[in-house]
Amino acid sequence: PAPGWAIDADVVVVGSGVAGLTTALRCAAAGLDTVVVTKARLDDGSTRWAQGGIAAALGEGDTPEQHLDDTLVAGAGLCDEAAVRTLVTEGPDAVRRLISTGAHFDTTDSGDIALTREGGHHRRRIAHAGGDATGAEISRALVGAVREAALHTIENALVLDLLTDAEGRTAGVSLHVMGEGQHDGVGAVRAPSVVLATGGMGQVFSATTNPPVSTGDGVALALRAGAEVSDLEFVQFHPTVLFLGADSEGQQPLVSEAVRGEGAHLVDGDGVRFMLGQHELAELAPRDIVAKAITRRMLDRGAEHMYLDARHFGAAMWEQRFPTILAACRSHGIDPVTEPIPVAPAAHYASGGVRTDLRGRTTVPGLYACGEVACTGVHGANRLASNSLLEGLVFAERIAADIAEARPSRTEPANGPGAWDAPVPLPAPETRAAIQRAMTRGAGVLRSADSLAAAAEELEALHRDAAADAEGASGAKAVVPGVDAWEVANLLLVSRVLVAAARDREETRGCHWREDRPDRDDAHGRRHLVVRIAPDRT
Ligand code: SIN
Repeated sequence: PAPGWAIDADVVVVGSGVAGLTTALRCAAAGLDTVVVTKARLDDGSTRWAQGGIAAALGEGDTPEQHLDDTLVAGAGLCDEAAVRTLVTEGPDAVRRLISTGAHFDTTDSGDIALTREGGHHRRRIAHAGGDATGAEISRALVGAVREAALHTIENALVLDLLTDAEGRTAGVSLHVMGEGQHDGVGAVRAPSVVLATGGMGQVFSATTNPPVSTGDGVALALRAGAEVSDLEFVQFHPTVLFLGADSEGQQPLVSEAVRGEGAHLVDGDGVRFMLGQHELAELAPRDIVAKAITRRMLDRGAEHMYLDARHFGAAMWEQRFPTILAACRSHGIDPVTEPIPVAPAAHYASGGVRTDLRGRTTVPGLYACGEVACTGVHGANRLASNSLLEGLVFAERIAADIAEARPSRTEPANGPGAWDAPVPLPAPETRAAIQRAMTRGAGVLRSADSLAAAAEELEALHRDAAADAEGASGAKAVVPGVDAWEVANLLLVSRVLVAAARDREETRGCHWREDRPDRDDAHGRRHLVVRIAPDRT
């Protein structure tokens, strides 16, 4: 279809979590005509679900250098040290500016920001809000600031593809918008700067802490646009997700690392603390180590889950410090005050993404990426807990500064009407569950050459089926373009690239765990797997 509508702007920000809204606010403050588009409502992304908090060297005696050391250790040899240095040195002031924007963090009796610990941190450096509702508070403050600044926002807008001018420079994005009045149906925002802040891709797996909107849309768009994508094999599995049954699918309730930070113990069915002796930080070892230890214990014991025991906190501490988690557990019939919480790892965070430099620039001129969709190099092979909200904040400010400095002039999209057609063969809706099953079986916490080969085969078959349907060769009814169909196309594309990267990385490193290659291979593995697809080859 031809675009039903088009509007012009200096910048279009795609996504409305901490990364997107901070970028948009800073761009608008710099006098740039800024439009925010988001797939659901403004606060429906991952940021709202963040519990533990935001890491920054804010405490007495803590320093950016110590934060850097912990981040590099967690990243298992693949962090970009300059990016990490940027993150940890600019982080504390970025958090203070977030506070000036209106976010209220929990404080101590003396009025200082209260700090907790999480896995991999040698110090208390995690600022939190509402006990365990940090993301919700950040989202509330930023959405409030966006509304107050009267920014142009378009909700229920799924981004389809990047528009480029005759020189291959960014010229905007095409969108599919549902029920938003004047901007309804397929249309475009024409802008010389596009910031992808679309979050992660947890929905490629059957069970994840990510909300339903996390379908890898930004990474898929970037791949179709020929941008470089890196480190997709490093999917972080959060060690302690409330276990609701082996068949429970979709978004699962998180039990924050901060619960362990405040002294909860991981125990098996016999009450044995199995993290003792495995790592100097025991339950507070980096996340990949804890997730692996839990999985290993589950396999050894033939158990579907382990337990997190925090009965010793008592009712008052649970109610005051972890009200969100307490309510989630109780709503599922588990009372953490009187019983251990059943937990198992689930997909949580994409450490890789669209490759950027220190100003958030991707390899396509005018296209930026920020937050979980990006691969800035700060996470390496395994993100340190609570560094993600910080990354979103710090790099959002850098991106806004870069765009404000460059102020590129507006250009005409040259993609032609084809840019608004279905961007790839659209898979049938039931393909979503098939992708998730293939990814969970073959590319989950534990991977091997065989499991990954099986996943790759299943995904390629799904891709072939979609192509045959699109060409009418299969006799199946053509899939109607729409949000569901495009999301499934995105899930399929990012899954195929993720599995290819995981097959290529023939070692165990960070959150990439190959059972058939149990050791880290520094001779061959200290490299980034970068993917760039010629635009017509997706
Ligand atoms: C948590 O609260 O455990 C999540 C923190 C994070 O993913 O950084």
